[in-house]
Amino acid sequence: MKFFVDTAEIDAIAELNDLGIVDGVTTNPSLIMKSGRNILEVTKEICDLVDGPVSAEVVATKAEDMIAEGRKLAGIADNIAVKVPLTWDGLKACKVLSGEGQMVNVTLCFSANQALLAAKVGATFISPFIGRLDDINIDGMDLIADIRTIYDNYGFDTQILAASIRSVNHITDAARIGADVITAPPGVIRKLAEHPLTDKGLAAFMADWEKTGQDIL
Ligand code: G3P
Repeated sequence: MKFFVDTAEIDAIAELNDLGIVDGVTTNPSLIMKSGRNILEVTKEICDLVDGPVSAEVVATKAEDMIAEGRKLAGIADNIAVKVPLTWDGLKACKVLSGEGQMVNVTLCFSANQALLAAKVGATFISPFIGRLDDINIDGMDLIADIRTIYDNYGFDTQILAASIRSVNHITDAARIGADVITAPPGVIRKLAEHPLTDKGLAAFMADWEKTGQDIL
């Protein structure tokens, strides 16, 4: 499973990238706002840092404007994935941009039928939002499972990019179901390394080691 980092914070991306666990980055207008950076400048910096796909989202709502914005964003670097919303206009923009050989990430997906349409218009990635479905008492993971089944039934090669991930359990479940990619905030990815029994075991080893009076170096 590929790991994308869901942030526009350069330092956080760099730290995870140095560890070799970053396969790509996703941003959106809210994350650009949080970063306080110019979208074109920060996206270029991210693309220079990371080899894999970097999603940059259009903000227009009409297909022709989305296409123009998408082409401009695509000009930032070869590893840009243009992100468009799952609206009728977004699907039209996806069809045109993917037809030009551009990677396209169709975002704000909340139903299996939306995911089916995105695959039909050539999306590289479909981004179902797990956490936001959970927020309204609909199991977001059921949507990941449904899309996996449907895509496998027909051999669609659109990659399922599980988004709006809020917890480490979301990542475990997405991996179990077979999502191709997860995108998560840096803090959630760091939490994957944590376990209370690891901390407890390490504390016990350190206490015993102290009693030996030895040094390794
Ligand atoms: O990748 C989409 C993600 O940024 C949305 O997450 O937590 O705002 O629902 P959230």
